[in-house]
Amino acid sequence: MLNLTADQLLSTTRSVRKRLDFDKPVQRDVLQDCMELAFQAPNGSNMNTWRWVLVDDPIVIKDIAKIYNLALEDYVKVLGESVGDDYMGAATPGFEKINQSVDYLRENIHRAPAILIPLMSGRVENSGVFMQASCYGSILQAVWSFFLALRARGMGSAWTTAHLWREKEMAELLNIPYKDFTQVGIFPIAYTIGTEFKKAYRKPFDDVVNWNKFE
Ligand SMILES: Cc1cc2nc3c(=O)[nH]c(=O)nc-3n(C[C@H](O)[C@H](O)[C@H](O)COP(=O)(O)O)c2cc1C
Repeated sequence: MLNLTADQLLSTTRSVRKRLDFDKPVQRDVLQDCMELAFQAPNGSNMNTWRWVLVDDPIVIKDIAKIYNLALEDYVKVLGESVGDDYMGAATPGFEKINQSVDYLRENIHRAPAILIPLMSGRVENSGVFMQASCYGSILQAVWSFFLALRARGMGSAWTTAHLWREKEMAELLNIPYKDFTQVGIFPIAYTIGTEFKKAYRKPFDDVVNWNKFE
């Protein structure tokens, strides 16, 4: 376990891509420990309707990587057509670096020792905001707890949702009943190369927080 305070853990758990050690195996019992910590996150009425697919078969990981790459191509195509050079994220400090890092992950994700696919029960495409918030709110905290548990153990992941452009294909590959479960993302898991990570850029408090009423 790394010697990190709670504040250090919370401020240095990053989306790790270039510093994932794809050559170092990850043991199932360590992943189970991380998952069991994640399960302590809140979920609606404590129903535990979530399901989780952990993949460590390299052949399946290669197939996942193919879908991830095709889905990213879909995403870039749609994004390019709809917003072009005006893409909002282009103004973010470090945007170029993020892009390079995203490219690195897509070129290397097939080498990940393990991948997590969290599933929430039901479909939310046609639901109202209450149901959507309740469903995502019953799984996303657990995924983030999983990230923190990985970080505490010298491991890391990158939050990714791009494959959802091809969610059905992923469901078929992994035998997930598409009508009954919604995928939340795919999360490559590996030990990190080095364990020092920095705080990231975020908009300052005063730009994003109002006291008492929205301004
Ligand atoms: C909802 C969501 C979706 C994301 N999708 C992707 C993705 O498909 N591929 C990827 O490489 N990174 C993805 N990211 C990672 C973000 O680019 C990353 O979180 C952001 O640049 C901030 O970096 P940090 O997590 O290290 O603070 C996603 C992050 C979030 C929260």
